[in-house]
Amino acid sequence: MRQKIVAGNWKMNTSIASGLELAQAVKTGLEGKSLNDVKLILAPPFTHLHAIGEVIKDSPLGLAAQNTASEKSGAYTGEVSAEMLASAGVGYVILGHSERRKYYHENDELLVQKLTRVLEAGLTPIFCIGEELEDREKGNHFALVKSQLKNGLFHCSPEDFAKVIIAYEPVWAIGTGLTASPEQAEEMHAFIREELSAAFGAENANACSILYGGSCKASNARELFAQPNVDGGLIGGASLQADEFIRIAESF
Ligand code: PGA
Repeated sequence: MRQKIVAGNWKMNTSIASGLELAQAVKTGLEGKSLNDVKLILAPPFTHLHAIGEVIKDSPLGLAAQNTASEKSGAYTGEVSAEMLASAGVGYVILGHSERRKYYHENDELLVQKLTRVLEAGLTPIFCIGEELEDREKGNHFALVKSQLKNGLFHCSPEDFAKVIIAYEPVWAIGTGLTASPEQAEEMHAFIREELSAAFGAENANACSILYGGSCKASNARELFAQPNVDGGLIGGASLQADEFIRIAESF
């Protein structure tokens, strides 16, 4: 069985104080709940990671960073390395989010370096892919997603690939309130799994968790998560409210 995952991408939101409150509220809200083996992960900003790690350390919650450096260490002002994240108690790193690809010009080559750093540090990458509206309108969405997979992941050994979580996030659905329909999500997730199967074999492909992201909330999560190839969600806006986030995880 594939691991079901619901990860909250807080983006550049919350202060340390309000972030701690949110993490505590999620932790408390989960107490006594059985979530059908869903792994919940919080991805706060860098500044909050260590303190939030302390708050959630005796809980089933996982801790993710939203980005990391492509280099190991040294004179890279302003960067945070994967090893630093590991030392702060982080277990997962979101890589290649469309906002990083778009606003910070992160390309496939850079993401391969970042992926290498994350795996070297013993962390689990949450590798994001997804097309722009324009790609979908032109019918290029499958080709685009295939190229992101190929350029970003297909160099991995099967052992390394086994550590990767994928998040399919159609860019047109992120923060827009427009969600992919369950059929659109399933169609793409099934396609991704076929491509993974061709590259790494059916067994590895079937073991890979593929999350959906893009305006996922408690009111639409159930239908999305009911799709056979949708293994959970990467949640932006709706992860900033503890109740809503927990309700999403309860949608399985
Ligand atoms: P959203 O963001 O849920 O606010 O659309 C998802 C994401 O960007 O990961």
